Amino acid sequence: MEGMTFVLFGATGDLAQRKLFPALYNLYLDEKLPETMSIIGLGRRNYSDKVFQEKVEQALYAYSRRTVQSGSLPDFLKKFRYCIFDATEKEAYRQLHELVEKRENELDIPQNRLFYLSVAPRLIDVIASGLYTSGITQGKGWKRLIVEKPFGRNLETARALNQNLRKVFNEDEIYRIDHYLGKPMVQNLRTLVLANPVLGSLLNHEEISNVQITASETVGVESRADYYDQAGAVRDMVQNHLLQLVMMTAIHLPDSLTGNNSGIKKTDIIESLQPILKEHAHRTIVRGQYEPGEIEGAPVAGYREEPGVDELSKNDTYFAARIAIDHPSWKGIPFYIRTGKRMNAKSTQIVIEFENKAMDTRGLQGTSPNLVMLEISPNESISLRINLKDASNNRFNPVWTSLSSNSKDQPEAYELLLYDALRGNSTFFADWQEVELSWNWIQPVLEAFNEDLLPLHFYPAGSRGPIVANELLTADQYKWW
Ligand code: BG6
Repeated sequence: MEGMTFVLFGATGDLAQRKLFPALYNLYLDEKLPETMSIIGLGRRNYSDKVFQEKVEQALYAYSRRTVQSGSLPDFLKKFRYCIFDATEKEAYRQLHELVEKRENELDIPQNRLFYLSVAPRLIDVIASGLYTSGITQGKGWKRLIVEKPFGRNLETARALNQNLRKVFNEDEIYRIDHYLGKPMVQNLRTLVLANPVLGSLLNHEEISNVQITASETVGVESRADYYDQAGAVRDMVQNHLLQLVMMTAIHLPDSLTGNNSGIKKTDIIESLQPILKEHAHRTIVRGQYEPGEIEGAPVAGYREEPGVDELSKNDTYFAARIAIDHPSWKGIPFYIRTGKRMNAKSTQIVIEFENKAMDTRGLQGTSPNLVMLEISPNESISLRINLKDASNNRFNPVWTSLSSNSKDQPEAYELLLYDALRGNSTFFADWQEVELSWNWIQPVLEAFNEDLLPLHFYPAGSRGPIVANELLTADQYKWW
C-alpha cells in the first residue's frame, strides 16, 4: 500500500483510545498498514508528541485485543504526531497543513490524506470547510473522509450536512462509518448462503415465516447523557445499525444462489420498507425507557436518575418495531427489530423463524418452529433449533445445535473498516442514498415521538424491555426468541 497520512480529529476522545488506536495497532501487527504512514492526532488538549505517544501506548495496553509487543512498539509509536487544534480557528488548519506537509517530506510519502472525524456532530461541517479553505484537501494524492455517526439528527439536517461535505469531498471519497457493518458475522452474510448451498435451500421465501433482529445491551447511558438524551435509541441505534442489519439480512438471505435475490441492492430494500404514518406509528412501534432495576444482581438507577439526564426526560432507551418489506423476495415476511439499553443481556443477533410445517402439514403435535440464529456479538455463532423426540415421554423437545462458532480472536469491526478505508474499499460503509432513505423512513417516527403520539413504556433495568413489545408479535401469532 502506498504511503499516506492519517489525520485523526478527536484523538484524545474515547473512541480513539478504545477502538481506533488498538485497531491501527492490530493492523500494524498484521502488516496491513502502509509501510510509511504518518498519523497525526488532533485535540484541544495541549500535548507534546511524546505525551501523545504515551497516551496511545496506554490505550493499547488497556484495549488491544492482542498483547502489546514491547519490541516493535517504538516503531509503531513513532508514526504518531500531535497537533493542538481548535476547529473554529483558521490558524489551526494552517498549522495542521504545515505539519502534514512537513511529515510527508520527512517520510517521502505522496499527498494521500485520510481525514477521520471522531468529533461532536456540530463540528463535522465546520471542519470540512476549514480543511477546504486551508488547501489541505487539494493535495496531489487522493483524499478520503471518514465520518462517525450520527450523520445528522433527522432527514433535513442529514441532507444539509451531506451537501456541505459534498462541497469538499466527492461521494466516493466519503466513508460513513457504521461499525455494525464491520462486525465479522455481518460481513459474512454476503457469502454465507453462496458458500453453503445447504443453508441456501433452507433460507427461502416459502420456508421463512419471520425474521427477528435484536441488539440488546446491559449498559445504560453511561457518561453520554449530553448526546444520548437528545438522540434516543431511535437515532443512536435504529436509523443506522438496525436498519443496516435489516438491509444486509434482506439482500444476502435468502437464497442468493438460485438467483431469486441476485442483484438486489440495500437501497432496494430500504426503499421498499412500508412507510409509517406518524398517526399510526403506535401500531407498529414501541418505545420505552428503563426504570431502576438490577443488572447481574447489582441495583442500578433508572434513566431519569442518570447524571445529566432531564428528570422528566421522555427519551427512548428502547425501541421495537414491526417492519413490512414490499419487495418480491420478502413480501409477507415480517421483520421485527428491537434494541434497548439496560436489558437483561448483551446480545446482537438475527433469528430466522421457519414455518412450522411439521405441525401444519405433517400432523405432528408439539413441535416448535425451526430457527436459525446468527449471533453477531458478543460471540459469533450460527445455530439451528430442531425438534427431537424424548424417548422417556414421547414428546418433542426443541434442541439448539451449533453449526459453527468462531474463535474469539476475530478482528474487531474498526480494524476491518479502517483497513478497508486505507485501501479505498467502501463496500462496508453506508452510502448517502442508504443514509438518506433510512432517515426518510424513520422521519415520521421522530415526529410521532416529538408530538407525543405514542406512549412511552417503562421497563425495569435488567428486564427484556416493555412487555407490550410482545404484542407486536403476538398479533401475528409469533413471539420474540
Ligand atoms: C454505538 C452506540 O454506535 O453502538 C452506543 O452509540 C452503543 O450507544 C454501541 O452502546 C453498541 O455497539 P456494540 O458494538 O457494543 O453492539
